[in-house]
Amino acid sequence: MTGLPWLATEERQRAFLGQYWYYAMELGDGIVTPGQRFPNVALTRDLISRIDLSGTRCLDIGTMEGLVPVLLKRRGAADVVAVDGLDFSDKIACVKAAYGTDFAYLPNVMSGSLLRALEERHAGEITRHRYTGAPEPRQGFDVVVCSGVLYHVFSPFHVLASARSALRQGGLMVIETAALPLDAYMMQYNFAGTGYVLGPSDTWFPTVPLLDHFLRFLKLMPLDACWLPAGDHLVRFACVARATGHRPTLPQETLMEQATWNLEYATLLRDDFARGGDTAPVPYATASPKPVYRPGVGTCDLHATMRARPPMVPAPAQVELRLGDRA
Ligand SMILES: C[S@@+](CC[C@H](N)C(=O)[O-])C[C@H]1O[C@@H](n2cnc3c(N)ncnc32)[C@H](O)[C@@H]1O
Repeated sequence: MTGLPWLATEERQRAFLGQYWYYAMELGDGIVTPGQRFPNVALTRDLISRIDLSGTRCLDIGTMEGLVPVLLKRRGAADVVAVDGLDFSDKIACVKAAYGTDFAYLPNVMSGSLLRALEERHAGEITRHRYTGAPEPRQGFDVVVCSGVLYHVFSPFHVLASARSALRQGGLMVIETAALPLDAYMMQYNFAGTGYVLGPSDTWFPTVPLLDHFLRFLKLMPLDACWLPAGDHLVRFACVARATGHRPTLPQETLMEQATWNLEYATLLRDDFARGGDTAPVPYATASPKPVYRPGVGTCDLHATMRARPPMVPAPAQVELRLGDRA
């Protein structure tokens, strides 16, 4: 017996485990959810394991059943907020209980409402702080994870900009998505004339150079990357980038600053949102072989790094979560 009410009787256990589960997660002795074991989560886990998370405040966008928040807390995060457009409250409550971990879960938050939802939560925290004398809350995050989300949204740049707005300067963003491994600046749409490339509700697959450009346009310095082949000419690509106060610009991008004059840009990147507080770099240990850096710019060249690195071949243990896992 696990002591978890969701698994208290055989009937409840059958019904609970019989739902669709995205992740294979151990909930008790010999009880593992029948998840899909998608390999891409191994990329995100690898990058997260390289961050020194001790005492950090983290945000997980598109958390699904909460695998990433469990790992963030296990690796020392002080405070984790997990959001999702869907509501998996029941499953999340069970996962929290099974893993003896706690994090804030905000369901029904669509990516377009992310900043508003965080602002509303922050307003509540300020009031609580005033009444209870609890430490003054801050709105910005030290680490933001946006894994497996960008290829599900119609406007990936908008989502990246919201995620970046929530990140404080010096903080780290982890991104994972389906991507196109071409040396070009474009996004492929999911409908390719003869049929859908991935699931019909998927959207865009950016090339890695375009993702690199978007990140730098949003004042993020790419630091590291990993990938694995995904069929249909796609890859699953993950990278980590540091929030900075400037736009790391390539010589051929001298007009990047003027590109921010686009009327939408200031409404997308909210410089005020995570302002204030600590700006010390959150420590990150790069993988080997070393990432390929751009001379003079100081950022990792994501496409060159992907080409220089062998694909990850996830072990079975990396695509499921076990009660003892820390990474
Ligand atoms: C493929 S899963 C990725 C889960 C997890 N982040 C990971 O990397 O393993 C995509 C998640 O993003 C959520 N999602 C998709 N589109 C969204 C949107 N527009 N707004 C908010 N959440 C969204 C889904 O509900 C789901 O939980």
